[in-house]
Amino acid sequence: MQVIEQEKPWVDQVIQKLTDKMDWVSDKSRDKIPYTTQDGVHDDRSGHNPSGNDADGINWWTNGFWGGMLWQMYHVTGEEKYKQYANLVEDKLDACFEQFYGLHHDVGFMWLPTSVANYQLTQNPQSRKRALHAANLLAGRYNPVGEFIRAWNDLPEGDTRGWAIIDCMFNIPLLYWASAETGDPRFRQIAERHADTVMNTFVRPDGSVNHIVEFDPFVGGVVKTYGGQGYEDGSSWTRGQTWGLYGFMMSYRHTGKEEYLHTAKRIAHYFIANIPESGIIHVDFRQPKEPAYEDSTAAAIAACGLIEIAKSVGEHEKDLYLNAALKLLRTLDEQRTDWSRDCDCIVQNGSAAYHNATHHQSIIYGDYYFMEAVLKLKGDELYFW
Ligand code: GLY
Repeated sequence: MQVIEQEKPWVDQVIQKLTDKMDWVSDKSRDKIPYTTQDGVHDDRSGHNPSGNDADGINWWTNGFWGGMLWQMYHVTGEEKYKQYANLVEDKLDACFEQFYGLHHDVGFMWLPTSVANYQLTQNPQSRKRALHAANLLAGRYNPVGEFIRAWNDLPEGDTRGWAIIDCMFNIPLLYWASAETGDPRFRQIAERHADTVMNTFVRPDGSVNHIVEFDPFVGGVVKTYGGQGYEDGSSWTRGQTWGLYGFMMSYRHTGKEEYLHTAKRIAHYFIANIPESGIIHVDFRQPKEPAYEDSTAAAIAACGLIEIAKSVGEHEKDLYLNAALKLLRTLDEQRTDWSRDCDCIVQNGSAAYHNATHHQSIIYGDYYFMEAVLKLKGDELYFW
């Protein structure tokens, strides 16, 4: 999609800043898989111990985003170094398959921006194999009676056999991809069943979404809901809203089912109605006024989803979505980005969860989705979801 004429100079300027920053950061962090920064320097989540499951190391759910940024830059610039560095990330992720126990449903977040992106651009057969392997692991988490994909393995706090989470809407595109790639409909059938369950049980009448829904893993049916990474049960974790908003657009792109587009629009209308004048997105739309914790990553992901909706609706409708996306992205660019050499990340003030001890940190998926959104405005992003 080409953005409206008057925004083009700004979009080009941001893409220039992105490519300038990635040029030196990619060299500096070539041997890492970063998640956040410590004193401005990328951390590294690629560590692994062959006898462990390294939950916060190589199995960490965000370990696909750095590879995704490198592939986007390879797509935009054609520079070989990005391909080389992205391949290093993908090779490292093989340790997750060996460990096995550390993997949850997040295999889509991990292997779509790495192996599927690689396969799309280079037809690398090893990447195809890795992505199919990950898709099989995801399909194996499907509960056919409850018709949901189990999110996590058991937590120290207890049994999660019946837990599904809204984030999984970003993992199921791996299943659509696997069906398209192999011609075997099973993957796609599972993805659609899961999406239907989410549409019917996570999305509330006002268009907001739950983070976690627990089902009875033996007979199906909703047992209870949880606030998860948001403020409390019944609140509205903003990143969760965006996983739903953009996630249903992904399912719509893969299936053409109108109900997924309508669901994405319902969530979007709720989201747009809650964007404050400042354009700064809080961790939860229903959190107390103070402390005013924010999550810039939610703004970046929402912008991606809103642009996708704008691409799928008629001329008379699209400005609603596009203008909201532009407001979010301009606020990030003007107030929440660091283009200097003092910080390896770009977008500041991300928050992983409302009740975490740490808030307002750089998080790699904030950078990734900001990049994807701006490239979408240019009509030049690599789409692998
Ligand atoms: N998928 C976990 C999160 O959004 O933090």
